[in-house]
Amino acid sequence: MAAAKATSGADNGDSSCRDTGGGAGGEANSVANCAAGGRVYSLDDLDTVATVGTGTFGRVFLVKDKKAKGYFALKAMKIPEVIRLKQEQHVHNEKAVLTEVNHPFLIRLFWTHHDERFLYMLMEYIAGGELFSYLRNRGRFNNSTGLFYSAEIVCAIEYLHSKEIVYRDLKPENILLDSEGHIKLTDFGFAKKLSDRTWTLCGTPEYLAPEVIQSKGHGRAVDWWALGVLIFEMLSGYPPFFDDNPFGIYQKILAGKLDFPRHLDFHVKDLIKKFLVIDRARRLGNMKNGAEDVKKHRWFKSIDWDAVPQRKLKPPIIPKVSHEGDTSNFDVYPEDEWTKEAPVPPKDLEIFKNF
Ligand SMILES: Nc1ncnc2c1ncn2[C@@H]1O[C@H](COP(=O)(O)OP(=O)(O)O)[C@@H](O)[C@H]1O
Ligand SMILES: [Mg+2]
Repeated sequence: MAAAKATSGADNGDSSCRDTGGGAGGEANSVANCAAGGRVYSLDDLDTVATVGTGTFGRVFLVKDKKAKGYFALKAMKIPEVIRLKQEQHVHNEKAVLTEVNHPFLIRLFWTHHDERFLYMLMEYIAGGELFSYLRNRGRFNNSTGLFYSAEIVCAIEYLHSKEIVYRDLKPENILLDSEGHIKLTDFGFAKKLSDRTWTLCGTPEYLAPEVIQSKGHGRAVDWWALGVLIFEMLSGYPPFFDDNPFGIYQKILAGKLDFPRHLDFHVKDLIKKFLVIDRARRLGNMKNGAEDVKKHRWFKSIDWDAVPQRKLKPPIIPKVSHEGDTSNFDVYPEDEWTKEAPVPPKDLEIFKNF
């Protein structure tokens, strides 16, 4: 069934998730180069301990700071692969978005860097591992466990949307648990700041599309849809629309038919149905009261929403973390020929001069 990890758009050569420009671009800033209290980082100060995650063009390492002895996660992306998969704008978006945000449930970015082969992002290391692993190990979560993660995710999405950022890649692999069991969203590779163009009514009125006129929620709706899928999967153990090939999945999504396992709570079924509405103008979270409508839903009745971002809800799973640099909650990855890459020609490096 859904044992394997889902691949994001870029992984299967799907270019439908590509941006054509606009949004927060590479010029946005160079603040991250001296972020985190003005500290200046250098690759020479970092020892690689192990790989904790891999992607199409990226690999995430646990690294140890030789001087301060602390640990970080270092995401390294192969520049030729980024270019081949036309992800230049996305990596610029990833940096711009992470540089802008500051929230207890979002990963912190300390520094970005590039050399002739790789782009680097230095982040806080989250030792509890992926929510994906806990979900697959347990098969499915009970109602109160699903409720806890959903509540924290709602706060994270609400915060991002309040900053006009759409996350666009919500899934169990991108949700990490810290050592106390609270969530951290990582992987802002598809995140995007909605451009001003999306928000102001420009163009000739007679010719405007409905979604431009109803600019409230333009783009944000995708995150609420994804939350509907995620809640279904957390409580069922498999996603609502699945098939052995992407085309079959797309057909099922568009058919919009939902089969709930019998054990699901009455209110959560209602919530999921309200997220998985094809017409995004009628989708919960994307109407005029935004995230407030989600928070007021009956399934969340027991949630004290002020307590959530203060990390005051009691985590249902406490990861086993023996020390700050413990990697035992992540899969083991072969440390292959990762560094044997040819340098990138200067004209290609030019695209990343601000990274
Ligand atoms: N800050 C982090 N701390 C610990 N593990 C991380 C961190 N960021 C990413 N990872 C791990 O690396 C994996 C891949 O990173 P991600 O940013 O999702 O890359 P990709 O864009 O290739 O999917 C994640 O699914 C997660 O397991
Ligand atoms: Mg990812």
